[in-house]
Parts: sequence; C-alpha cells; structure tokens
Amino acid sequence: MSLSLRAKFLLSSGLVLALVVSLLIWNSLRLLDNAVSKNADRVAHEYAVTLNLSLSPYASSGRLNDIRSYLQEMLSDPRDSFVRYIAVLDPAGRPLLQVGQPPNQLPALFRTPALRQAEGLSTVQTGRVLHARSPLLLKDNAIGALHFGISTEDLDKARDEVLLQGGAIAAVGFVSGLLLVVAFTAGIGRRLRALSEQARGLVLSHFDLALPARGGDELDVFSHSLQTLTRALQRRMGELDAAEQRLRESEARFRILFDTAPVPLTVTNESGTIVAMNQALTRTFGLTVDEVLGRRSDQFAFWDSAAERERIWGLYQREGVIRGEIAKTRLADGKTGDIAIWTSSLRLDGGPAVVWALMDLTAELEAKRALKELNASLEQRVRERSAALERANADLSAALENLQRAQGELLASEKMASLGALVAGIAHELNTPIGNSLLAATTLSDHVAQFRAQVAQGTLKRSVLDASLADIDMASQLIAGSLNKAAQLIASFKQVAADQTNDQRRRFDLRNVIDDTIATFAPRLRRAQCEVQLDVAAGIELDSYPGSLCQVINNLTTNALAHAFEDRRHGRITISADNLPDGSVALHYADDGIGMTPEVLHRVFDPFFTTKMGRGGTGLGMHIVYNIVTAMLGGRVEVDTTLGRGTCITLTLPRQAPQRRGSPETLVGA
Ligand SMILES: Nc1ncnc2c1ncn2[C@@H]1O[C@H](COP(=O)(O)OP(=O)(O)O)[C@@H](O)[C@H]1O
Ligand SMILES: [Mg+2]
Repeated sequence: MSLSLRAKFLLSSGLVLALVVSLLIWNSLRLLDNAVSKNADRVAHEYAVTLNLSLSPYASSGRLNDIRSYLQEMLSDPRDSFVRYIAVLDPAGRPLLQVGQPPNQLPALFRTPALRQAEGLSTVQTGRVLHARSPLLLKDNAIGALHFGISTEDLDKARDEVLLQGGAIAAVGFVSGLLLVVAFTAGIGRRLRALSEQARGLVLSHFDLALPARGGDELDVFSHSLQTLTRALQRRMGELDAAEQRLRESEARFRILFDTAPVPLTVTNESGTIVAMNQALTRTFGLTVDEVLGRRSDQFAFWDSAAERERIWGLYQREGVIRGEIAKTRLADGKTGDIAIWTSSLRLDGGPAVVWALMDLTAELEAKRALKELNASLEQRVRERSAALERANADLSAALENLQRAQGELLASEKMASLGALVAGIAHELNTPIGNSLLAATTLSDHVAQFRAQVAQGTLKRSVLDASLADIDMASQLIAGSLNKAAQLIASFKQVAADQTNDQRRRFDLRNVIDDTIATFAPRLRRAQCEVQLDVAAGIELDSYPGSLCQVINNLTTNALAHAFEDRRHGRITISADNLPDGSVALHYADDGIGMTPEVLHRVFDPFFTTKMGRGGTGLGMHIVYNIVTAMLGGRVEVDTTLGRGTCITLTLPRQAPQRRGSPETLVGA
C-alpha cells in the first residue's frame, strides 16, 4: 500500500509526538516514583527514630507489653495513623511485640533486590505499604529489630493525581501538536496538489494553469521554476508545433512530387524490399501496388532476366550508387525495354533506404539506333546521289555548251531581225520624202515636156512662162525640202549605225566635256528659259570616248527641251556625278519636267518609239543613248521618272571604257 506524502508525514509526526509524550510521562513517572519513595523513606526514617526512642527503654527492660495497648490504640483507626503495623523481633528473629497485621514472612520480605537501605534503615514497598526495618538500639547496641509498615496511600494518590494531570496536559499537547501538523500539512498538501496538477497539465499540454505566488518559500521557488519551465515549454511546444506543421507540409509536398513525378520511382530498404512506389511505375511497367510493395524486384516480373537483376544489384553493392546505368526490363506492353537507373541513398524511419529512379529510354535508344541506321543509309544515298549529280553535271555542262552555241546563233539571228526592223524603219521613214521628191520630179518632168512642146509650137505665152516657172520653182523647192528631210534622216541613221571606231579614245575630264556640250545649247536653253545646274566636280578623269559621251548629252538635252519642258514657261536641268565604290562614275541627268507615263518608260529605248510622231520625233534619241552607253562606253542606263515631277537618267560609266573589237558588228547593240 502506498501512502501519500502527507499521510506519511502525519504518521511520522504522530509517532514522534507519541514517543515524546510517552517519554515525558515515563520520565515523570520515574521522577514521581523516586520522589514518592524518597519521601516515604524519609518519613520511615523519622518514624524509626521516634519508635526507637519510644520503644528502646521498654525493650531493654523487657516491658514491651506495657506499650502494646497504646500502640494498638494508635493503630486502631487507619484514618488517624498511616502506620499499618509495628513488630519488634529479637536478634534471633522471634517476635517480641506485634501490633496491627504484619505480613507473615517478615524477615523473608527483605530478601529482595528491590530492597533500599539508608542510614541503617531498610525499606521495601509492596502494594500501598512501605515495609521498614531498623535495628532497635539501646545505647547504640542493637537489642532487636524493629519492623513497621506505613501506608503510602496519600503519596500514591498525590502521585496519581500529578500523573493524571500531567497525562492530560501531555494528551492535550499531543493532540494540538497533531492538529497543528495536520493544519500545516493541509496547506502544503494543497499547494503540492496544485503543483502536481500543473505538472499533469504540462503532460497534457495545458499551459494556462498558473499558480498564485505565496510567501516566497521553497515551494514558491519551485512553483516559480515550474512556471518558468512551463513558459519555456510552451514556447518550445509552439516552435515544435510550427516545425511539425512545416514537416507535415514538406512531407505532403514530397509525397505529391514523388507520386506525380514523371519518372518511375521506388524506395527500398537495405535488403532491397520495396517500401514505396509512384504512379509512373505503374504506367511504365504495368506493376500495381499489391504486386510491388513489400517485395524485392526479383519477386515479380520486372527484370528481363535474373542475370540483369544480379548485375544491377551487384553494381549497387560494389559502388554504393548507380548513375544512369542502362538495364533491360519488362515494360507495360510486355516487351523488353531499356531503362536508365539512378540511385540515391537516404535515411527513412531511422534506417538506411535507397531511392531508385527508373527512366524508360526505350524509345530514345530505338530512335538513336534508327538514326544511326538512317545516317549509314544516308551516307550511302549521298554517295549515290553525288555520283548521279556528277553525271547530271556532266550532262548539264554539255547542255550548257549546246545552249551557248544556240544562244550565239540566236543572238546572230536576233541581230539580223533587229537590223531588219531598222532597215524596215529606215525604208518607211525615207519613203515619204523620197516619194514626195519623186512625185515632184515627175510633175516637174511633165511640166518641162509641156513647156518644151509649147516652145516648139511657138505658142508660149508670157503668162504660161511665168506659171511654169512658178511650178518649177515650187517643185524644186519641194524636191529640195524632201531630199533635205531624207538627208537629215540618213544623218540620224548614220548616228545609229555609225562606225563608232571613228570616235577617238582619249583621257578627258568629265566636267569639261559636259560643260562644252551644254555650251552649244546656250541659245536654245535661253529661249526655253531653262536653267542648267552643273554639279560635277572637276578632276573626274575618264579613259573613254568623249565624242560619244557628247552625243549622249546632246540627245538628253534635246529630249529635255523637246519633251520635258514642252509647254512650260521654264525648267531646270541638274547634272551631277558621284564616284562609286567600284571605281566607276554615276552621272545623273535630271530635269523637273513632265515625266513619263509607265507605258512611255517601258518603251523609251525602243527604236522609232516616239510620242512626237509627225512632229519632229524620230524615236531614235534614247535608242542611240542606250547603244552608245552600253556598247561604246561599257556602262549602264537607268531611267527614274515620276509623272508631273520630272525624269532622272543615270549613266553608270566605267573610268576606263572597254577595248573595242575592230569590226562594226554592234551596229544596233546587243
Ligand atoms: N526628258 C524627257 N521627258 C519626257 N519624255 C521624254 C524625255 N526624253 C524622252 N522622252 C520620251 O521618250 C520618247 C522617245 O525619245 P527619243 O527616243 O529621243 O525619241 P524622240 O525624241 O524622237 O521622240 C519621246 O518621244 C518622249 O515621249
Ligand atoms: Mg529625242
């Protein structure tokens, strides 16, 4: 049976108190007994002396009987005397006098260890009687033994009373001591209970049980410490709670990541037993949780062969880690596949564990193999294609040669056609003036015949002569005019077809040639109120044909005056030149005249194309420009025009004109 601390304390306090009280009582009893017996002995001594004095005379004279009646009288009422008996014995122990009721074995009574002896008096207590023995003296000689018994009743009574009162006081002390202890321990017990309540509360994580502060005693100090501990615990528990929460969250995150990771994952313990797997494992290998968990990978259909499992497990045992090792396993479709294996070690539930990442690379490796094969076949095909290409190339070269030959032939026939067109044009143009001349000449011839006939007849009148003269004059004028026109046309044709080898090639300054050419136009430009701005820097030197260049500038200026500024009050021509990076020169000839329509632009270089048919246009100006620039000077011509805003003709000329072939085969240009 286990007792509470308080019960133990109460019990031990009670025992100690009882012991103290019993010791006190025992000691008082002993002291009282001592005092009582000492007192009785002293009374007995005094009484022995008195009796000796009274009896010794009678004893010595042998008249003890004389005093017997007195003594009997004295002892008759026990209330008057506390002496119970008196006896005198002779030295042999025979009784000489007996008053009252002495005990039977008087001498034997004094042979006891409880015998007390002092100043010749021997006493022994039996019951409430003190038996005393003293020698009976006569002049200091013992003549017998005096025995008497005195009652100790009063003394005993007094002692009992003292004892009773002492006992009562001791009992009161005992009880009040006990009550005090009970009251004291009751307070402590309560506080201890409260402390234990608080401690139990701590166990159950109730941190709000605060104890009231008391008087600053040890319990208070302990309670204060407990409260400090409580607060510290509360803080720590709060931190622990937060940490636990974080841990739970991170565990949940890890689980989600693990479960939903696209790569198949398992976790095994040290002996290879699988303790966790994710969904990707089921997808890739067709394995269910029931098949896998709690087993080793060789206990279900996973590896392609037992040897493969041995190889991978052996590798892991040796190296402690696997990094991307390729192994053959069964896949969900039942076929054999290639997977790459990675491991990493961790601790799980206090023991070592391994995470296995099993990445299915079957498709990739298959694709790689296919690619390799494709590459090999591609190389072969490339070789075949190269050979075919070479053959085709050879064919093409042959074809090109043919083509070039054909092109040459075509060019020649084209030139012939072009020449034919030119000849037709010339014939057409010359037809009119020559026809007119022929008509006039025929008419004139008819007139002359008529005139001659009239002269021969002698009928020629003055008036007829005048009229004939006028006709002849008109006809010859007509013929002259027509032939003049024909001569002009022929001059133009000559320009087109001129043997340009006549033009002297030399080095000249571009600006000078342009300047001189424009100068010849001064009167016409003035009449047309046309301004010319020349922005060509001096010192641009060309090794070319200045006569031909002059002809080009002539034609452009003629066109500007004839077409661009027609019906305009005034105009402006700007001539500028740029040095190009390739060493050639760009000459820009711009007017701010009427510009050209797209149709005109499209045909501007065609021979005999003119918008001034019958009004002085021959349609050869721009054609001549094109021929000279491209054939003679070795350059290019571009026309940039905007209707209503003007036209800019750009001549790109090399500093050095190409060497000319001797024959004037390029009459019309290429
Ligand atoms: N600067 C120019 N502005 C507007 N039109 C032009 C200019 N130069 C030439 N043309 C147009 O190009 C045509 C062909 O010019 P060209 O070959 O010189 O023949 P022609 O001057 O005899 O008509 C001209 O009829 C004219 O319509
Ligand atoms: Mg012209």
